[in-house]
Amino acid sequence: MSVATVLSDQPLQDLDEWDDFLEGRYKEGKSEEEFRVYDATATPGVAEFYRQNHENMTVDYVLGKETEYFSLAKGQKTIWGAADFLNTLVDDSDPDTDLTQIEHLLQTSEAMRRDECPRWMILTGFIHDLGKCLCLYGEPQWGVVGDTFPVGCAWSKDIVFPEYFAKNPDRHIAKYQTKYGIYEPNCGLENVHMSFGHDGYIAEVMKPYLRDESLYMLRFHSFYPWHKHGAYDHLCTDKDRSMLEWVLKFNQYDLYSKGHTKPNLAELKPYYDDLFAEFLPPTLAW
Ligand SMILES: [Fe+2]
Ligand SMILES: [Fe+2]
Repeated sequence: MSVATVLSDQPLQDLDEWDDFLEGRYKEGKSEEEFRVYDATATPGVAEFYRQNHENMTVDYVLGKETEYFSLAKGQKTIWGAADFLNTLVDDSDPDTDLTQIEHLLQTSEAMRRDECPRWMILTGFIHDLGKCLCLYGEPQWGVVGDTFPVGCAWSKDIVFPEYFAKNPDRHIAKYQTKYGIYEPNCGLENVHMSFGHDGYIAEVMKPYLRDESLYMLRFHSFYPWHKHGAYDHLCTDKDRSMLEWVLKFNQYDLYSKGHTKPNLAELKPYYDDLFAEFLPPTLAW
């Protein structure tokens, strides 16, 4: 199946359309009113994308995808190999003005580097969206990107477009509709099944190698209901709460580091070669 086939019949023109939506939604200094207006007037593609996501993201779906992908049976790849693979995810937009996936990753990590963030964080910035290669494995957009949320318990009203959960089959499973659902109070976010997407996948790939702060940034970077709205605290431990500041620190770069200058890959490559070698083995299981 070619990439073009994978991407046809998908509501978003490309995955960046979702990132752009977030950037607009969480623009700094935005009033509550502007915030709501943004939702109502969101592009139809984004609304349709969230409809598909909210209607299909069931407990059964998530458990199935975790079994399929968290066993890391898609082969061995280096970080550059994974980045090159992700770069084959091309879209219809103008190649002269749009940045490639690798350029987006470098903008995030280079902004962190300019601010003298710790080296492990710069690494995290570079790898955080490598899980978007799920699209290249044939996963639909709604199963790769989008704000994430716990499944198996009541959906928070702070999840964007909550009305689209009306047609999610889990609505009819009483246990899943309670505050705690299948979880114990304060069970810890690491024990929660999150809606499936690129975040959870890249965190699994990196789990053996990186520190908790980094893994929280990877696993929960799209968990906006938690890190922007404070939802789901009843599932959190003190560890989760102490990790939140790192996720928020990360989010600033994820949302606001986009620019139009193309990073010079050839110039930057030696720095990143050293960075990868410091924390990671030469190849990783994906
Ligand atoms: Fe992401
Ligand atoms: Fe990102």
